[in-house]
Amino acid sequence: FKRMTDLDLAGKRVLIREDLNVPVKDGKVTSDARIRASLPTIEHALKAGAKVMLMSHLGRPTEGEYAEEFSLKPVADHLGSLLGREVPLIKDWLDGVDVDAGQVVLCENVRFNSGEKKDDEALSQKMAALCDIYVMDAFGTAHRAQASTHGVGKFAPVACAGPLLANELDALGKALQKPEKPLVAIVGGSKVSTKLEVLEALSDKVDQLVVGGGIANTFLAAAGHPVGKSLYEADLIEAANKIAEKVHIPIPVDVVTAKEFAESAEAVTKKVEDVAEDDMILDIGPQTAHIVAALMKEAKTIIWNGPVGVFEFDQFGEGTREMAEAIADSDAFSIAGGGDTLAAVDKYGISDKISYISTGGGAFLEFVEGKVLPAVAMLEARAND
Ligand code: 3PG
Repeated sequence: FKRMTDLDLAGKRVLIREDLNVPVKDGKVTSDARIRASLPTIEHALKAGAKVMLMSHLGRPTEGEYAEEFSLKPVADHLGSLLGREVPLIKDWLDGVDVDAGQVVLCENVRFNSGEKKDDEALSQKMAALCDIYVMDAFGTAHRAQASTHGVGKFAPVACAGPLLANELDALGKALQKPEKPLVAIVGGSKVSTKLEVLEALSDKVDQLVVGGGIANTFLAAAGHPVGKSLYEADLIEAANKIAEKVHIPIPVDVVTAKEFAESAEAVTKKVEDVAEDDMILDIGPQTAHIVAALMKEAKTIIWNGPVGVFEFDQFGEGTREMAEAIADSDAFSIAGGGDTLAAVDKYGISDKISYISTGGGAFLEFVEGKVLPAVAMLEARAND
């Protein structure tokens, strides 16, 4: 695909799709990682003298309707403070946007337009008519074939990848397509069902597959261990066994349990065979955490998605903490992605010790599954014109 950094942007109307879908509370942005990740792209375009128009979605509003709670106003304010300049928010932008060279505006939530999610052609053409160059930079939304991520790129005079998207694809490609071995993946989170395709795809590629959270419980049950009243999926035991036949999975030898799921719950460490009928497994135990940490030390490439315990509650966060610190200390090329993972990276303060932190949640998982991201396919199709 074409890259924005190879193009002359001076005086051009440049329409950039970012993923500025960030958490907002009481009119304030509460985590600005995605906004900060998009800054180099925006600053590059401004420096090059482009007329910069930014697009993004925020949340999942009823399509075609304005709703204040999904307005990008807090994002415009926050972005403005990071850039050190005002970023006007344009409410009605489909029929044309006034912006000078070297200036930037933010177009209001793309999902307020009907047809956005359907990848509507007429809407895509209107977006395309706004610009000379369309830049797709929203890795986090690259798995969506929608008007602002996909359709617009088919009709814009030029369609290219922004630096954030290109860097994500380079980093993820490095970890998955030609990884230095051993390659170790950690897949945590609550359910096998939501990560089945990821687990299956990784089981063909990795040397060790570390599982955590509710996912580990299903693997424990599959291996014949008692899981008490822990979250697990009985109907996926067969699928878990099939995965375990393909790849080495160091299932926990000890776990941290509680009688209830609560912030105040008392944490009790047990050997896996001692889990009682009224126990809930809420973290991996210390012995397991050491085993996992040792794997991180030997690894040359690490892919991390999902915490291994209920780390929101400190007494069930030790497994995730020890693992996160082991990843931080490892010399491996490490990638972390997915919403909860980034919250854990933040909580344990290791963000600058991970080689690459993906801005994608669903997009990251689909990439790991080996799926073609529609926005990337569109850019490839437009590579030569
Ligand atoms: C995300 O947060 O994963 C992306 O911004 C995509 O959002 P969506 O799932 O609402 O399309």
